[in-house]
Amino acid sequence: MNAPLVLSPESLAAIDREIAKFPSGKQRSAVISALRIAQQEKGWVSNVTMDFIAQYLGIPSIAVYEVATFYEMFDLEVPGTCKITLCTNLPCALSGAYEAAAHLRRKFGIGFGETSADGKVTLKQGECFGACGDAPVMLINNHQMRSFMTPEKIDRMLAEIEHGGNPGRLVGPDG
Ligand code: FES
Repeated sequence: MNAPLVLSPESLAAIDREIAKFPSGKQRSAVISALRIAQQEKGWVSNVTMDFIAQYLGIPSIAVYEVATFYEMFDLEVPGTCKITLCTNLPCALSGAYEAAAHLRRKFGIGFGETSADGKVTLKQGECFGACGDAPVMLINNHQMRSFMTPEKIDRMLAEIEHGGNPGRLVGPDG
């Protein structure tokens, strides 16, 4: 391909491994994996990144945009340092998910799909993480699951992150 490289050689090698899992000519099936790998490197997926992925996979840009805009785990804007995805499906909703959301609104003035003014916290709404027995459940920066998230536990988690704890992001939003 002739486009300037948008992703690192490591990310491209990881995408190549995903492409190899599918039959020849079916590389478009690797689009979710490619987006995941790109977001892991960049911290979010910009239009430039999506166009690059489209070109890399040999598919129209719209085919990448469709996937990236459908799945909540993909960030089309730079998220806060701590991206909280709160499951609001029924078991979590019945066990305090909306109390958790209200607590975050009181603390940071944000609702779903918003980032706090200081850029520290983004709140997203998620679908069932398959851990309903631990409700309410949160996913931190797509990689770290937190269980039984009462307002008290949320405060403890945020304090932990504030004091250098790992918020779950593998790489910062440098892209
Ligand atoms: Fe929240 Fe299943 S309903 S993890």
